[in-house]
Amino acid sequence: MSDTTPPTERLKVLVVGAGAMGSQIALVAALAGHDVALADVDADALDRADRQLRERMSQQVAKGRRAAADVAAAFDRLALHTDPAAGAEDADLVIEAVVEDLDVKRELFATLGQVCRADTILASNTSSFVPSRLADAAPHPERFVNLHFFNPALVMRCVEVVRGPDTSDDVAARSVAFVEGLGKQPVVLEKEINGFIANRILNAVRDEAIRLHEAGIASVESIDLACRTALGYPMGPFELMDLTGIDIGYRTKLARHAETNDPADLPSRTVTDLVEAGHLGRKTGRGFYTYDTPDQTTGA
Ligand code: 3HC
Repeated sequence: MSDTTPPTERLKVLVVGAGAMGSQIALVAALAGHDVALADVDADALDRADRQLRERMSQQVAKGRRAAADVAAAFDRLALHTDPAAGAEDADLVIEAVVEDLDVKRELFATLGQVCRADTILASNTSSFVPSRLADAAPHPERFVNLHFFNPALVMRCVEVVRGPDTSDDVAARSVAFVEGLGKQPVVLEKEINGFIANRILNAVRDEAIRLHEAGIASVESIDLACRTALGYPMGPFELMDLTGIDIGYRTKLARHAETNDPADLPSRTVTDLVEAGHLGRKTGRGFYTYDTPDQTTGA
């Protein structure tokens, strides 16, 4: 009935950032038996996350996917805080899932670096920045690693474990063990590279889908249909952009362009127009498609 995997070791985990990714990562860790603090400076974001996680879990219990007792125990292990460094002094692992802004992330890690133990793993869920962009923000760069979850984190099995040039073997091994303990599939990158593995492949597909659409070859619906029915994708690239948040891909592209200065890395006109109009996907009720109600459990 339950797919809860007993952890090899019960850890104290601090997840910073209660958006769609951070909140689901926190619950995944709590369901796996860890003691989790979910922190966000925005109290409303925490309230929203709590409500949405509880709703999703009630549905899972109602469908017989999880045992009510396991879910209740997980929520007992999940504490919410508005202080981003709450419990950082005891944390074995910190997972940062805040906004995709390098300065914000570096500032957070600098603060955490003053509070956490030297052996605390400092992990980022970022899709935009390789570990070496963050690792010198706090002492002990060998404890930095990226743990890149996929959206929706409660469902998607893959977690990319991205080693930076300084990441120690011990930190990489403990990260892999943690991901396995979540019942997920770690995929290790021995060397860092922008976009990691899955997003590099996804971006190539997404860019081609946008090119086909902008050239007037086919509608968004037809391109998604081809990807689903010819390639076996669970969702087409436009549906997926609506799920993950059009602004997320937009910011990732801008971050890449800032590094490469290659015009090919700039966001497309279509995506830029949607972001400027505030049509960010399911979370705003409109993106490439229009939705009856905004779904804030999606899109970081
Ligand atoms: N949050 C949590 N769980 C969700 C969810 C969400 N937003 N949306 C759906 N689910 C769960 C449902 O509760 C359901 O669970 P159940 O099987 O236990 O009842 C299960 O997922 C299937 O949902 P549905 O039946 O409603 O719908 P689908 O069968 O269409 O599945 C999907 C939805 C799992 C999102 C599936 O379409 C899918 O796998 N899509 C592709 C997702 C993907 O490619 N993600 C990677 C994005 S890239 C990324 O994250 C990188 C980052 O850097 C941007």
